[in-house]
Amino acid sequence: MTAEARTAIPSVSEVPSAGPDFLADVIAGFSSNPRTLPSKYFYDERGATFFQKICELPEYYITRTEIDILDQNRADIASRLGPNIELIGLGTGAGTKTRILIEALESPAVYIPVDISEKQLRESTVLFQRIFPSLEILPVCADYLQPVVLPSPSRNVVRNIVYFPGSTIGNFEPSEATEFLRRVTNVCRPNGLPAVALAKAGGLLIGVDLKKDQHVLEAAYNDSAGVTAQFNLNLLVRVNRELGADFDLDQWRHRAIYNSAAGRIEMHLVSEIDHFVHVDEHKFHFRRGEKIITEFSYKYAPEEFAALSRKAGFEFVQMWTDDARLFGVFYFVVPM
Ligand code: AVI
Repeated sequence: MTAEARTAIPSVSEVPSAGPDFLADVIAGFSSNPRTLPSKYFYDERGATFFQKICELPEYYITRTEIDILDQNRADIASRLGPNIELIGLGTGAGTKTRILIEALESPAVYIPVDISEKQLRESTVLFQRIFPSLEILPVCADYLQPVVLPSPSRNVVRNIVYFPGSTIGNFEPSEATEFLRRVTNVCRPNGLPAVALAKAGGLLIGVDLKKDQHVLEAAYNDSAGVTAQFNLNLLVRVNRELGADFDLDQWRHRAIYNSAAGRIEMHLVSEIDHFVHVDEHKFHFRRGEKIITEFSYKYAPEEFAALSRKAGFEFVQMWTDDARLFGVFYFVVPM
């Protein structure tokens, strides 16, 4: 496989890159109407710790429901994915869900976790090497929103399966999600082999949060312990610390509302007073009640997500869900 063929997931142009762009992103976001802060900046060390806590909250059904669905359907999912596959995990973190999946698979050949957190990647690779000694593991520390060159495994595989858990796809605008999945189809095409040599088409296993009662959704993003509020306000802590801004955190509050017309949770930071904030050389006026949009989390009906994926070039195969139909684990293939 050539490096070019495996330059897997080029950037989604609307999603800005990390690092030195932080100031430029903040200035651009505060200069737009309505004001915004990109949600990718949630995940500094403190933010990642808050997010881990969110995943364990009673109101945040997403993580435990996805794990339960995998757990209860492991044999069925494994038989769909088939034996001797290359599994490419996007943002698989500590690997809790991937472990359930790999344990169920028949003779998995290769696992390529792609994650931005070096610590989690290193720890999960050590763990997986111990519990899956016959698996070839090729970790890649990278932001999968940017171009990533995937390593070439030493083994021959029947097909490539991309695994994208956690409903992170919901944090993309639908048009970005379609574009991103279109690029993922390139990774699913196995190893540049000629079509006649391929036993099976590649696939995508993806976790997606489903549309549901507004109260359930809003409770998940307005937890009673206030962890999501801290997670959201941490963006301002980060702007103060890294860019020398002077946000007074006591003057801002977290808000999460479900926009049913758009089918998304919107997280906002709302100014309690009329005031000025300085960021670098810039001075911004915030009115009382003015919001900064910090995140969208789109929720899909199963047929909506299948249609979006079809536009990206995937063919729907199956969805596994829970009794209350809170969450869906979808399997798609790339038509040969
Ligand atoms: C990472 N992502 C799927 C989470 C979500 O539910 O959209 C991020 C999050 N924001 C607030 N709580 C969790």
